[in-house]
Amino acid sequence: MPRTKPDQSASGFSLSLSANYPVNPASVPLPASENGAAKTSRHRKRDRLWEKTVIVTGASSGIGRSLCKRLVERHACRVIGVARNEERCLSLRRELGDAFSYHLFDVSDEKAWQAFAARLQEENILPDILVNNAGMLPRFCRFDRMDAALFSQTIDVDFLSVVYACRAMLPLLLRAPSPMLCNIASSAALCPLPGVTPYAAAKAAVKSFTESLAAEYAPDRLRVCLILPGFTLTDIFREQKESGMRNPWLSRIAMPCKKMAGKIERALQKGKPRKVFGADAKGMDLLYKLFPAHAARLCGNVLRLGAAALFEDVFPTDGI
Ligand SMILES: NC(=O)c1ccc[n+]([C@@H]2O[C@H](COP(=O)([O-])OP(=O)(O)OC[C@H]3O[C@@H](n4cnc5c(N)ncnc54)[C@H](OP(=O)(O)O)[C@@H]3O)[C@@H](O)[C@H]2O)c1
Repeated sequence: MPRTKPDQSASGFSLSLSANYPVNPASVPLPASENGAAKTSRHRKRDRLWEKTVIVTGASSGIGRSLCKRLVERHACRVIGVARNEERCLSLRRELGDAFSYHLFDVSDEKAWQAFAARLQEENILPDILVNNAGMLPRFCRFDRMDAALFSQTIDVDFLSVVYACRAMLPLLLRAPSPMLCNIASSAALCPLPGVTPYAAAKAAVKSFTESLAAEYAPDRLRVCLILPGFTLTDIFREQKESGMRNPWLSRIAMPCKKMAGKIERALQKGKPRKVFGADAKGMDLLYKLFPAHAARLCGNVLRLGAAALFEDVFPTDGI
């Protein structure tokens, strides 16, 4: 089936706004996009990401936001972000201009994914790449202290959303000439940590799901890229006691957000099937391979020494 690139000046950016958002995108002042215009045609040919249409979930902050910027500014991509925070999405649109549009919905809502896919089809937009990056980290605490609803929500947002996204988007992606799927898991999928049982379980599920999917879809030319980042300086620790990255020890071992996004960008550009990023993630990976029965406890003890306040509810001292 011939693949039509949408006419961005016409209908392409009705996707910029959620259905009930009153502002006309044409009234928003947009800066001129750099779009990597200086690239030579030789570079363009070698750039797997050049002028691709990319869907990035979790585009409003952290790694996703940084990745959106790199895709637009360095690869002239057309990026469609997915997130819930309208203000932050709008500010990114102001920064990136026409090359960035967004769609607001909860990634753990399967119907919303189906509606999004239908909307893309209606507007004749066919994505080349899907990056499942949206995620949440609940406050560190022991399993018996964790609210059951929060546990389920973490599994929904961190794992099931990836399944829903793939179910809705793969039929569209597979119509692209060189389709790519990138799922962002975590070092917690390589070596589980105490205090984050639903997060570790969800990320391990993302890892296995992605690896199985890669094998299943290899005959369909789908490139699958699994990213396993270590601690990264973003707002994901906002729910924690001591607000995570303000802990000097943790912020020393964590990678700057822009650097992590740059590494993910290069992994996508090179079509890497699996990448572990961050010294902490590589250490956890090795530790688990060497001592699978003890690695989680060892990592927990190291984190507890470095960031005791974060772990107060994980190893309670009140006799529970
Ligand atoms: N930071 C780290 O140390 C670290 C380490 C390993 C792996 N990771 C993974 O990297 C990914 C990005 O994390 P980050 O550190 O950049 O976190 P972040 O700064 O908190 O960003 C999370 C993004 O996900 C979106 N999101 C969360 N729940 C959502 C939902 N239900 N529906 C739609 N969007 C949702 C948020 O957007 P809205 O709030 O606008 O909805 C936000 O854009 C996550 O999958 C995370 O697990 C992070």
